[in-house]
Amino acid sequence: MPFAHITGWGMAVPEQVLTNFDLEKIIETSDNWIVEMTGIKERRIAEKDQTTSMLAVEAAWNALSVAKLKPADIDLIICATSTPEYLFPATACLIQDRLGATKAGAFDLSAACSGFIYAMNMAAQAIRSGSLNNVLVIGAETLSQFVDWSDRNTCILFGDGAGAIVLQSSEIPGGVISAVMHSDGSGADLLTVPAGGSKNPASEETIRAGMHYIHMDGREVFRFATRVMAQATREAILSAGILMEDVKWIIPHQANLRIIEAAARGLKVPLERFVVNLERYGNTSTASIPIAICEAASDGRLQKGDKFVLVGFGAGLTWGALTAQWTGVLEADHVIRPTYYRFIARTRSFLRRLWLRIEGIIWGRNTG
Ligand code: ACO
Repeated sequence: MPFAHITGWGMAVPEQVLTNFDLEKIIETSDNWIVEMTGIKERRIAEKDQTTSMLAVEAAWNALSVAKLKPADIDLIICATSTPEYLFPATACLIQDRLGATKAGAFDLSAACSGFIYAMNMAAQAIRSGSLNNVLVIGAETLSQFVDWSDRNTCILFGDGAGAIVLQSSEIPGGVISAVMHSDGSGADLLTVPAGGSKNPASEETIRAGMHYIHMDGREVFRFATRVMAQATREAILSAGILMEDVKWIIPHQANLRIIEAAARGLKVPLERFVVNLERYGNTSTASIPIAICEAASDGRLQKGDKFVLVGFGAGLTWGALTAQWTGVLEADHVIRPTYYRFIARTRSFLRRLWLRIEGIIWGRNTG
C-alpha cells in the first residue's frame, strides 16, 4: 500500500496588515484586550479584488515549485474553504483553471476551520488506496468579506490567507500516519453565516439584519474548543500507534492562544512544542494550519523524519487531528519551469474560454 508524503508546501497572504491599533480606531476595543484575550496582534486583509482563489493559486504555485511538479502532474485539487467565491462552482475549479491542472479533478470541502485536516485525510486516503498519485490540498480564505466590521466580538479574530501542500504517493514508509474526524451538528448555530444559503436566501431583509456576516457565540465555541483539542490529539496519536514523546511538533488551528495553552496543559506538553503564529495572522480558518506548516518548514523547525500532529476545530461543529512524518524536499532529476507553466496556464485558460464561446456560437446556429 503506498504512503502519502508531504512533498510540497506554499503560502500566500495579502500585503495589507490590520493591527489591533488600527482596530481601536473603528471599534471600541484595545490592543491590550485583544492580545490578552486572544494573543492576536495583527492580521492580513485582502484587497477588494483579491479573491479566495487568487490567494489559493499563489500558495499552490509555491507548493508545486517545492514539490518540483508541473500542474499537469496533479490528479486532484481539494480546496478547504469557509469563504468560497460562489455557492457553485467550487473554488477548487477556479484554481484548477488558473493553474492549468489539465488532469485534475477538483472540489471544495466545507468543514470550517477543521477543513484542512479533513481534506488532508481525504487526500491521503485516496493516495493510500492506490487510486491517485499527486494531490494538491489547499486551505484558502477571505474571511474579511464575511466579517461585520462593527462587531467587536468577531472582527478582531479573523484574517485572510492561503496555504497549500502537495501530497505524493511513494512506496517508502512515511507521510500521513493517522487521522480522526468528528462532528456535532447540534452546535451548528454557535458559529454560522446565517444567510446566503438555501434556508435564508439573500434578500433585502437578510442584508438589513446582517445575516451574511459571521455570527458567533464566542464563549461556547471557546468551551468546545478547549474540550476537543487535547482529546483529538490523543486519539490521533493513539491511532498512529505512537507516543506523545515521539511527537516533535503540534501544529494547531490558530484561533486563540488561550485555546492552544489549554490544549498544551491538557496534553501536559510545553507550549514551545506548539507551532504558533496567530499573533501575525489571526484566525485564517482553513488556511491557518497550512500557513503554520509552511513557516515551520521554512525556518527549519520541521526536519526530515519529525513526527507531528495537526489539530483543529471549527463551525459545524467539527474537529479533528492528523499525525504525519515530515518528508521534506524530494531529490528530483527533472527541471521545472514555474514561469513557463504560469504563462501556459493563462494562455490555455484564455483559449479554452474563447473556444467554449465559439463552440456555443456554432452549436447555437446549428440548433437554432
Ligand atoms: N474589545 C473589548 N471588549 C470586548 C471585545 C473587544 N474586541 N469583545 C468583547 N468584549 C467584551 C464583551 O462585550 C464583554 O463585556 P461585558 O462583560 O461588559 O459584557 C467582555 O468583553 C467579555 O466578553 P466575552 O465574549 O464573554 O469574552 P470571552 O472571554 O468569551 O472572549 C473571545 C471572547 C476572545 C472571542 C473568546 O470567546 C474566543 O476566542 N472564543 C473562541 C472563538 C473562536 O475561536 N472562533 C473561531 C472558531 S473556528 C471557525 O470555524 C471559524
